[in-house]
Amino acid sequence: MSNLLLSGRHALIGGASRGIGRATAFALAEAGADCTLLGRTPETLATVMAELTDHGGQKHAMLVADQLELESLGLKVKMAAKSRPIHIWINNTGGPKGGPLHKAGVSELEAAFRQHILAAQTILQEVLPGMQAAEYGRIINVISTSVKQPIPGLGVSNTIRAAMGNWAKTLAGELGASGVTVNNVLPGFTNTGRLNEIIEARASAQGKTTDQIAEGMKSGVPAGRFAEPSETATAIAFLASPAASYINGINLPVDGGRTKSL
Ligand SMILES: NC(=O)c1ccc[n+]([C@@H]2O[C@H](COP(=O)([O-])OP(=O)(O)OC[C@H]3O[C@@H](n4cnc5c(N)ncnc54)[C@H](OP(=O)(O)O)[C@@H]3O)[C@@H](O)[C@H]2O)c1
Repeated sequence: MSNLLLSGRHALIGGASRGIGRATAFALAEAGADCTLLGRTPETLATVMAELTDHGGQKHAMLVADQLELESLGLKVKMAAKSRPIHIWINNTGGPKGGPLHKAGVSELEAAFRQHILAAQTILQEVLPGMQAAEYGRIINVISTSVKQPIPGLGVSNTIRAAMGNWAKTLAGELGASGVTVNNVLPGFTNTGRLNEIIEARASAQGKTTDQIAEGMKSGVPAGRFAEPSETATAIAFLASPAASYINGINLPVDGGRTKSL
């Protein structure tokens, strides 16, 4: 289907060095997009960039920035958008450390708010003018199923994800008329470094093996398994495409049916 193709579109992909962001870079490059990979580690970004599809004439690039450093993040995204307008932005970064909310320090919430919400607002202001000028914009936020149903033991994350969900829904209403859509993808348990960290933390807190924890988690998923990052990336690539032009302001769980609410 030609309206799934992204030729001539420029995508900025957060957290592109690993996990869901990396898989998304592969999916968008395969669909024909020029990909700019955002993350903190130049070596890993360079490795991903070297592996990206190039159907001929695609221009991939990297943008090394820390989402906690807002000023330099904004400047670097401004430069990237100036060289080529950004049409697709995958708002994705590392998740906050786990633990119960009542034990989290104020500084943990502050840092998570900065890395997720303030960084998103910083990037938005640099990418939006180009999207509006092109009358084509796709903002896709990689959040979590905790937007719908808080996950025990991920207190800071649950709080920040809810804020991001409302940030996105508000923008969807504000920007819909200009050809810019804002949607959220909510990953379930997905085979990445982040998931391994969560399993290890639970194993040590509960005195169990990582296999026991993983099997317990899978037993709550109707699909009976964890997702591969490529499965999440496929959903993201669809939302980024022209085919998804009338989808705006949604939360799309990619969780094997785990979320119990509608
Ligand atoms: N995997 C799951 O089961 C799951 C489930 C629900 C929600 N999620 C959420 O989905 C998102 C992606 O998950 P994932 O599993 O792919 O995570 P991941 O494997 O931990 O990858 C995180 C990515 O974010 C980058 N990053 C981390 N801190 C950053 C910072 N301060 N500034 C810029 N980039 C930063 C990392 O690169 P560098 O370290 O090189 O910067 C890496 O590329 C996360 O928010 C995660 O919490 C994941």
